[in-house]
Amino acid sequence: MTRRRPVVAIDGPVGAGKSTVARALARALGFAYVNTGAMYRAVAIAARAAGIDPDGAAREAELERLLERIRIGFDGERITLDGRDVSAEIGDPAIGDLASRLSTIAAVRARMRDLQRAAGRDGGVVMEGRDIGTAIFPDAEVKFFLTADVNVRARRRHAELAARGATATFDEVREQLLERDRRDRERALAPLRAAADAIEIDSTGSGVEAVVERMRGRIAESTRAA
Ligand code: DC
Repeated sequence: MTRRRPVVAIDGPVGAGKSTVARALARALGFAYVNTGAMYRAVAIAARAAGIDPDGAAREAELERLLERIRIGFDGERITLDGRDVSAEIGDPAIGDLASRLSTIAAVRARMRDLQRAAGRDGGVVMEGRDIGTAIFPDAEVKFFLTADVNVRARRRHAELAARGATATFDEVREQLLERDRRDRERALAPLRAAADAIEIDSTGSGVEAVVERMRGRIAESTRAA
């Protein structure tokens, strides 16, 4: 029997550089790239369009009905909702915040888990998110937990938003980032944390290429040892 190609999990907080690094790593390895945050964001777009109150008493039942009828498609960079390309819309910070709120709800996490496990089943994938190494693929061949100093993360996020034409100040961006991290870390279901066997990488003083090179080295070591 041939061993499946590896699943590489990359988890970490907002603005640690997961997407940039995961995308570059997938390209270098010839693996598929799956951004699980984008899937939660697609659910948030659908929930907002359906007028679901994320704090309402009926949210769980409403979301279950919504999840039954929406179709989320993903193919590398492109994410679709019922066949419509929502790749640009998901970058809206309000959608990121709503995605974080909705990600505390069991029905949402269960549906995302099924989609993500199906996407990684055959291996040969770099999957980034919050709970890939802990809950989605606890048996991933290689797990990374990517972090960076909070001010560096806020600066990156602020620059990204400014490039999109947003007017939020650095302090506002930093506050929102801390708030989202707190919610993602403190939720009861699959909270953001490093898996016990994850390799922690702090990207504070490093460029994308250096981080990707370090990861490639660790992947080569882990898969050779296996
Ligand atoms: O990675 P991102 O910022 O696009 O993710 C948006 C939100 O989705 C994040 O704040 C929490 C949730 N999320 C999650 O709970 N689990 C994941 N694997 C990925 C994202």
